[in-house]
Amino acid sequence: MHSHPLAARAIALLLLLQGGVVFSDDAGGGAGNKVAGETSSGPVFVKEPPNRVDFSNTTGAVVECLAKGNPQPDIIWVRAADGTAVGDVPGLRQVLANGNLVFTPFRAEDYRQEVHAQVYACLAKNTEGSITSRDVNVRAGNHHNDTSVGCASRERGNIESV
Ligand SMILES: *[C@@H]1O[C@H](CO)[C@@H](O)[C@H](O)[C@H]1NC(C)=O
Ligand SMILES: *[C@@H]1O[C@H](CO)[C@@H](O)[C@H](O)[C@H]1NC(C)=O
Repeated sequence: MHSHPLAARAIALLLLLQGGVVFSDDAGGGAGNKVAGETSSGPVFVKEPPNRVDFSNTTGAVVECLAKGNPQPDIIWVRAADGTAVGDVPGLRQVLANGNLVFTPFRAEDYRQEVHAQVYACLAKNTEGSITSRDVNVRAGNHHNDTSVGCASRERGNIESV
């Protein structure tokens, strides 16, 4: 689908004469909250959440996610498995406007596996692109009984209980 070299050269010359303005058709509209006079840039994590978050039902947890970019990126929390956005679950989980994912303290009978034993990821998105954090393995409660450590130490027979 390449045009003749001559035609291509003619078009290039035309663009040159026009100062390239033909490329900025959309420059006027949809500037969003872009900071004037600064070049736009895709999101970059300032605080990427950790790979593991273990917490107790009595303390709850706050998982931070912060990104910079121009325009300022939106933070969205998703289930890592299928990318579905997660939202507030009253009394259990809250997504704050600043991008933090908050797990509130809960009673044992309010434990919900899809909330409290879930792999999350933080997505930062603006008009220039989007980035996804590492997987965040969240586990609430019952972490005093870590069977995997128990098995490993028994097999190797050299790890003191902590
Ligand atoms: C956390 O769970 C324990 C039982 O496993 C319960 O005794 C305790 O009250 C719970 N904490 C809160 C804040 O509900
Ligand atoms: C730890 O959990 C395993 C199974 O999940 C159970 O068989 C074991 O009895 C538990 N140990 C304690 C000390 O609660």
